[in-house]
Amino acid sequence: LVASLEQVDESYIMVKPDGVQRGFVGEIISRFERKGFKLKGLKLFQCSKELAEEHYKELKAKPFFPKLVDYITSGPVVCMAWEGVGVVASARKLIGSTDPLQAEPGTIRGDLAVQTGRNIIHGSDSPENGKREIGCGSTMALACQLYVIHVLNRD
Ligand code: TYD
Ligand code: MG
Repeated sequence: LVASLEQVDESYIMVKPDGVQRGFVGEIISRFERKGFKLKGLKLFQCSKELAEEHYKELKAKPFFPKLVDYITSGPVVCMAWEGVGVVASARKLIGSTDPLQAEPGTIRGDLAVQTGRNIIHGSDSPENGKREIGCGSTMALACQLYVIHVLNRD
């Protein structure tokens, strides 16, 4: 009853190409399932350069931006929409710090990665960005039809 009164958020979670290639898709999905969040959409997807640039557009001026785009487009990613009370903040905790060497053991990056430029997973950084990255404003979600699946699965 208490939980039903809380705000239900959605987070765009993406297993990056190294996470897919290293075989962590199941492990990552499992961590979100065990926590109690609801999977609303999922797709294996080869991201284009244009979509990667759009997804990370706020980082365009950063020196690592070209490498980031190369990395995200280097192989298929797994795009997911997860729903639940507090899912955005909780997903960031489950994922851990951007630099995997700073990420706590027990977090996804803390357990499974060592390099910032190979940190295996993306998670929305605010409820607003969760909606933006999953919803009709997101070229990435739109291109891989995650939005359509998400809407069809809505109760
Ligand atoms: P950012 O949104 O700051 O981190 P997070 O993924 O934790 O939300 O940056 C997006 C991605 O850019 C990050 O996951 C990895 C890459 N990146 C670098 O390669 N070098 C860097 O110094 C930073 C800050 C990020
Ligand atoms: Mg971010």
